[in-house]
Amino acid sequence: MSVSDLFKPLTLLHGPAMRNRFMMAPLTSQQSDYDGTASKYDQYWIAQLAQSGYGLIQTSAATVDADGIAFERQLGIHSDKHLSGLTQMATAIREGGGLSAVQLHHAGHRAKPSVGGIPAPASGKTVQGVRAITTEEVERIRDSFIAAAKRAQLAGFDGISVHGAFGWILSEFMSPNLNDRKDKYGGSMENRARFTMEVIEGIRQACGPDFQIGWRLSIERYGLRMEELRDITAEIFDRELIDYFDLALWDSAQLVREGAFQGKSMLSVFAEIPRKGVRLGAAGKIMSAQRAGQLLDEGCDFVLIARAGILQRDFPLQVKANPMYDSPELPVTADYLRQGGLSERFIETMRGWQTFVRPGS
Ligand SMILES: Cc1cc2nc3c(=O)[nH]c(=O)nc-3n(C[C@H](O)[C@H](O)[C@H](O)COP(=O)(O)O)c2cc1C
Repeated sequence: MSVSDLFKPLTLLHGPAMRNRFMMAPLTSQQSDYDGTASKYDQYWIAQLAQSGYGLIQTSAATVDADGIAFERQLGIHSDKHLSGLTQMATAIREGGGLSAVQLHHAGHRAKPSVGGIPAPASGKTVQGVRAITTEEVERIRDSFIAAAKRAQLAGFDGISVHGAFGWILSEFMSPNLNDRKDKYGGSMENRARFTMEVIEGIRQACGPDFQIGWRLSIERYGLRMEELRDITAEIFDRELIDYFDLALWDSAQLVREGAFQGKSMLSVFAEIPRKGVRLGAAGKIMSAQRAGQLLDEGCDFVLIARAGILQRDFPLQVKANPMYDSPELPVTADYLRQGGLSERFIETMRGWQTFVRPGS
């Protein structure tokens, strides 16, 4: 395949097709209002992305429950007061010709009290002095994911992406190290995956057959077991429960270091699963046109662009114009980001990412 294949449309099981294979990854920019309402900075960022040629744009991680917040100035979708800002985002994306999805997030044990979060651990051993959430509390949070998806639909989004990565609540429940529950949400792998399954199935039921459901999974850290995650993913693919699967790697070329799949690329383990009509994409250091094209050869149906899109908003258009396009070398100066249209708040957030913004610039 070649770079030009990235511009072929991609049908999804539900709703409209992606016009090409570029998906904007979820990026928490910490520039919303303190109550989670999308700010003018969020709107400006989305408006820029909307004109940048992506097939689908995911919003930053949006809290489905006020208690589940992890970051100051995080986007919210837990209240109807967020609807107007979300509607403006969805409209801008649609007018730009792309599909849209809100990333649905609850931080679980990593909810941050200093910004209003209340840690909700799967186990009583994870956060000192905090008991495990009860079965009823799990079900209440599950329902808040479903209510948030309904809100996204009402705002005009084509779908949502369920955040099942990075040790946040759904990923936490998957982990045998973080989940020692004795109820139906703990113990066997099937039980640990139940929270995720109920969220996905509940959203499909509530939002109907035209709504798109993505699921983001990471496999590194948090005591997650690759073999288990592979099996859960295989079931989700086999039952065609989602439209697209987003493998959140920090490097899309990362190899498995131990266990049954040692030596294979993490991506290949998931790309080799029969996926029926589900589409598969990966994130992680996709910084050039050539690397993006290569990922189609490695089994991806689409690619997720994150840091390359912060550096150059219209990455897909750059790739279209130049199949040898490569991102600027990191770190870049704050001025470079400013000139590209990044807000001061977003630049401040990026200063927290190692080797992204040149210190002192
Ligand atoms: C500033 C920043 C914010 C991010 N916010 C989110 C987020 O809200 N949700 C999420 O799932 N991943 C988030 N990520 C991870 C990215 O979506 C992506 O998976 C990761 O950066 C690897 O891709 P890259 O190498 O192209 O940057 C964030 C990454 C960055 C750099």
